[in-house]
Amino acid sequence: MPKPMYSGIEGKVALVTGGGRGLGKAICLALAREGADIALTDLQAADETAREIEALGKKAMAFSADVTKEAEVKEMVDRIVAEWGGIDILVNNVGGDHAFLLEDLPVSEWDWMMDINMKGLFHCTKIVSEVMKKRGGGKIVNISSLAGLRMTLYGSIAYSAAKAGVIGFTRHCAFELGPAKINVNAVCPGPTMTEVVLSRISPEVKKRTLQSTPLQDFTYPEDQADAVVFLASERARMVTGTTLLVDGGISLPVGFVEWDEFYSSRKQWLKEKKWEGKKTSM
Ligand SMILES: NC(=O)c1ccc[n+]([C@@H]2O[C@H](COP(=O)([O-])OP(=O)(O)OC[C@H]3O[C@@H](n4cnc5c(N)ncnc54)[C@H](O)[C@@H]3O)[C@@H](O)[C@H]2O)c1
Repeated sequence: MPKPMYSGIEGKVALVTGGGRGLGKAICLALAREGADIALTDLQAADETAREIEALGKKAMAFSADVTKEAEVKEMVDRIVAEWGGIDILVNNVGGDHAFLLEDLPVSEWDWMMDINMKGLFHCTKIVSEVMKKRGGGKIVNISSLAGLRMTLYGSIAYSAAKAGVIGFTRHCAFELGPAKINVNAVCPGPTMTEVVLSRISPEVKKRTLQSTPLQDFTYPEDQADAVVFLASERARMVTGTTLLVDGGISLPVGFVEWDEFYSSRKQWLKEKKWEGKKTSM
């Protein structure tokens, strides 16, 4: 069968979670440029992204639904279906990180991590996949992380566990939803230069990131959005249950972490940076 020469996104309805800033915003704009109308939810700045989508000539619907709350997700999805007839593309982008060593990690922070990275993904996928089944198919793209495949340097053990969970969830959903013609895939971003990341890292870390990246450039939110567009498109017709790593090759070298140095200095380092327990998301 010849490959379609079109992305197939024109005229589709997409729902993007965490679309107010960072990767989510870049994903909203990239899908809109491909011709989709975009519904998005975020606890902040959803309206600003909606205005930028409309400036691209596409329809936008902004919500402030908290994806960890099932009732709020249901209400949002019902409204999208009532007004736009259904949902063809779901991008589960909401996620967050914080930094703790295992011995200092309170159970409340473990729960927060699982909620923000996995519970919202579960609610949205469960509810939206039923809408997609009625529509005859769809595409779901989950944002995991390089930390889900390896480990995380600046974040926590709980983040790595949650993002690995996203990959497991993706595989299983792909199997269950395949017969309903719903593709389910994950993107694993490496360190990506969002405004938040840029505001947190020092010039020294920035330089080191560049030096450690075989492709000798930074990875930007737009690079992650391009991967999402591919997986949400008809070009990825027969791609399901996979993970697409977008990291410029930074994870290729073996022995990236100096074990002794990491454990002996990290606790002190987190304290000095005042990063211990600091959340990167709401
Ligand atoms: N930036 C990176 O370097 C990087 C690397 C790997 C993976 N990721 C993953 O990519 C995704 C996006 O990352 P980012 O850096 O753009 O994050 P970000 O924190 O800049 O943006 C996340 C957005 O989600 C929103 N949000 C948080 N909780 C929410 C909730 N319960 N309901 C609705 N909205 C909520 C926040 O308000 C925020 O606008 C996350 O899943 C993150 O783990 C990012």
